[in-house]
Amino acid sequence: MPHKLALIGFGGVGQGFVDILEKKKKMLRDKERMDFQVVAITDLNKGSVHHPEGLCLKEVKRAIQENGTLDAYPDQPGLIRGWDSKETIEKSNADSIVEMTFTNVLTGQPAIDHCKWAFQAKKNVVMTNKGPVALAHDVLSKQAEDNGVNWMFEGAVMSGTPALRLPQTTLVGNDITAIQGILNGTTNYMLTRMEKGLSYEDALFEAQKLGYAEADPTADVEGFDVLYKILILARVVLGIPLQREDVTCKGIQNMTLADIEKATKQGKRWKLIGSLIQTEQGLKATVQPEMLDLNDPLAGIQGATNAITYNCDLSGPITLVGAGAGIIETGYAVLIDLINIERKR
Ligand code: HSE
Repeated sequence: MPHKLALIGFGGVGQGFVDILEKKKKMLRDKERMDFQVVAITDLNKGSVHHPEGLCLKEVKRAIQENGTLDAYPDQPGLIRGWDSKETIEKSNADSIVEMTFTNVLTGQPAIDHCKWAFQAKKNVVMTNKGPVALAHDVLSKQAEDNGVNWMFEGAVMSGTPALRLPQTTLVGNDITAIQGILNGTTNYMLTRMEKGLSYEDALFEAQKLGYAEADPTADVEGFDVLYKILILARVVLGIPLQREDVTCKGIQNMTLADIEKATKQGKRWKLIGSLIQTEQGLKATVQPEMLDLNDPLAGIQGATNAITYNCDLSGPITLVGAGAGIIETGYAVLIDLINIERKR
């Protein structure tokens, strides 16, 4: 029986995920004995199609190429058009909801509602959206558990680089005493370019042009994007719930070329570091620019790449380096979660 999917939101990541499903179809069948089938797609701007026996992904892509919507998806018996996200989640025959709507880290909506509707309808949810995980982890986890379904969100921190699953599975048995990471590509790219002499403004302009920065880059440069990732790491990896107010947060918005030069002269390098340190007084959580020695593994991370170090009592420090964003990388994070759900079935 194929594992049926409903995609809520069909922007770049959604379309990238469909490409991945097509590309990996044979490998998933042959190696994993898994078959994922998209039965519904709904998007506020692109429209909505549902067919209980599966949509043709080639026709989905052709329709999007034609005029940017799903309107040109061919009619066929049993095809339903026009369902909104609630109807798609509740009425479609999907086993799992792939939630890919925009991220709102202040309210977590509409993704929090999407999770609630899905769990009530006994459907799994897979997402890369930080909002619900940072703001409503405990409520949503309980709701998923009570309904006997899975909620997975590997891509919420570092997209397809397994920053959440690595410490939870592979490093299991260690006490993790500290976590420190470069968790925002935009700011790391900017700091890298400022070391080459670019002004703050020019470096930000480049990061926006390359698509690393959020539409409103405030969350990137003022550190809030990292702050939410730190909340997720604290809860999911260390099991400690924190609120926004518990994290001291300072971004790179006031950094100048003079600051960069000062570090260079001392043989050091600035990085925007999200950090969780277990102390006798409790967990110390910060997001701030830090001057690192060049022999620190995080100091060598250049451009938009992300990295995270877990200080483990048995295995010592382990650093994971990889992409923190990107259409295919984020789509891959969805696939990791779906494969893990399927392996549990
Ligand atoms: N704007 C973010 C970054 C994307 O630059 O890393 C991932 O949260």
